[in-house]
Amino acid sequence: MCGIIGSTGEGATLNDLLEGLARLEYRGYDSAGVAVARADGTLDRIRAVDGTASLELLAELAKGKSEGYIAGLGHTRWATHGRVTTDNAHPHFDCSGRIGVVHNGIVENFRELKSELEQTGHVFSSQTDTEVIAHLLEDYLKHGSTLKEAVTESISRLRGAMSFVALDADDPKILVATKRMAPLIAGSGSGANFVASDIPAILGKADTFYQIGNDQVVVVSPGDIKLFDLSGNSLELPEIAVEWDLEAAVKGGYPDFMSKEIFEQPAAVRDTLLGRLNSEGEIVLDEMRLNPEELRNINKVFIVGCGTSFHAGMVAKFAIEHWTRIPVELDISSEFRYRDPVLDPQTLVIGVSQSGETLDTMAAMNEASMLSAKTLVVSNVMGSSMARAADAVLYTRAGPEIGVAATKTHTSQIAALLLLALYLAQVRHSIYPSEIADVYSEMIKLPQKIEEVLASDASIEEVAQSMVGIKRFYFIGRQVGYPVALEGALKLKEISYLPAEGYPAGELKHGPIAMIDSDAVVFGIVTRTRLWEKTISNVEEVRVRGAKIVLIANQGDSESEVLGDVIFEVPKTHPLLAPVLDVIPLQLFAYHLAVALGNDVDRPRNLAKTVTVE
Ligand code: AGP
Repeated sequence: MCGIIGSTGEGATLNDLLEGLARLEYRGYDSAGVAVARADGTLDRIRAVDGTASLELLAELAKGKSEGYIAGLGHTRWATHGRVTTDNAHPHFDCSGRIGVVHNGIVENFRELKSELEQTGHVFSSQTDTEVIAHLLEDYLKHGSTLKEAVTESISRLRGAMSFVALDADDPKILVATKRMAPLIAGSGSGANFVASDIPAILGKADTFYQIGNDQVVVVSPGDIKLFDLSGNSLELPEIAVEWDLEAAVKGGYPDFMSKEIFEQPAAVRDTLLGRLNSEGEIVLDEMRLNPEELRNINKVFIVGCGTSFHAGMVAKFAIEHWTRIPVELDISSEFRYRDPVLDPQTLVIGVSQSGETLDTMAAMNEASMLSAKTLVVSNVMGSSMARAADAVLYTRAGPEIGVAATKTHTSQIAALLLLALYLAQVRHSIYPSEIADVYSEMIKLPQKIEEVLASDASIEEVAQSMVGIKRFYFIGRQVGYPVALEGALKLKEISYLPAEGYPAGELKHGPIAMIDSDAVVFGIVTRTRLWEKTISNVEEVRVRGAKIVLIANQGDSESEVLGDVIFEVPKTHPLLAPVLDVIPLQLFAYHLAVALGNDVDRPRNLAKTVTVE
């Protein structure tokens, strides 16, 4: 997956492209590049490869280049086909160097297209799948097509999920873009019009934003944006209501996005819970497009997601089963559709995806729809592909998350999924209204309690600094503590690059305990649930084998505290809500350890925030 941007108009500047790319860098940063056109038809290309600093190098290389551009394309790359080299950096050109393309996704049939194009004389200068698009466009233009027609013909021949933007230096004011199962939006501003992978890339530059659908072609020119289907029919351009401001998309005084986003969790959870209870004390989910009757008929729930979103889904399984007694199955999105799942119209498949664009989850949801299940997506991005395709949507209101390691969207996802579980219980009358009211009143205390956890940031930083040099970390928990353990381990792996494993605490003795010795650090999630005693026994088992013990325990829980070398305290809450608080010290620990190790926490190596490849 990659980030793409294009701009055109008198006010279009190289700087707009560079700033847009900086905000898209969560989508990849293996290399970065721009191609900018002048009115006289000259097309300049600048490309940079520099580890995780490719965008900085690109900005450096672009310094001193005069403005006066009237249109351009920009790209930040997460490599899939072709090594990380300048030749493989986008934008890619056709043989003549007149047609530029930036692309996100994978052209699955690029090998066959490439050999076909080579046989007709095209010369390739990269190992990427993308370059076939530039050469295909070249062929269509040579045969008299307009750029719009050439893009339409080309996307029909390309297999896979992707979006791309093309520019022809012979008529550089016109940008043509298309998408299939990959994110793409357009935006109009006073001086220029834009197309980009997402909204933050053009926030502050465009004032109106438009949705582009799958297999649609958008033609962006200086005073105009037009949308077409693949038959060339003109379509209405759907506007996206954007509630984010520019400030939300920049660091706001924090050293990096990750710390900013960790500290935004009280607001993110508060906003996600806001206005969800009416004056009669009932949960209301305004975006819910499934009616109560449909929800009453559900007899099985599947939850699918990847990474951190999957962990939020694990918490939801406990809540939905406990409050509704509907059986819930969980699956990693990339496994779900290949296991031939048994679904019918009475099955509800819940996809959890902050971006709403993760290809594995999107494909799982499509499979569920095809098998006639009801689908519901929990997403942080209004109008994201999954939000539009699903039967129902529930938005988290965390604001844009830029750091690759998900933090505020995770706790907001748990909050949203708990609301959903209560809502299902309400429409199915599976618990008393008074219990719903009691849980909800605990939920709205969470933002304040998150503040209390965040107040221990400095002491967690000290602990993290003292652990530089430790080579192995284990995280253990039971029931809802298990997804917290997995998430704590994932955060640490992602940004510190150290081996870290999460286990159900009771499972250790079945094998993993063999790895425990005095070089290991074990984090135990021992906040009070009915399994507290059992979890504490599992902590004892690793303590007596010499491991250093860090406990996530409730404030003032002296019985837990005597067992830990280090204690991270969190306030008490309802046991099913505990993951929202318990995960925060683990986020802070991972963050501070990674910073102490000198790692770039916003841009961990080999990762991209939104994974739009399978
Ligand atoms: C989280 O820190 C990870 N970067 C990753 O596991 C992420 O949660 C996963 O790729 C799913 O993304 P999504 O929520 O946008 O679908």
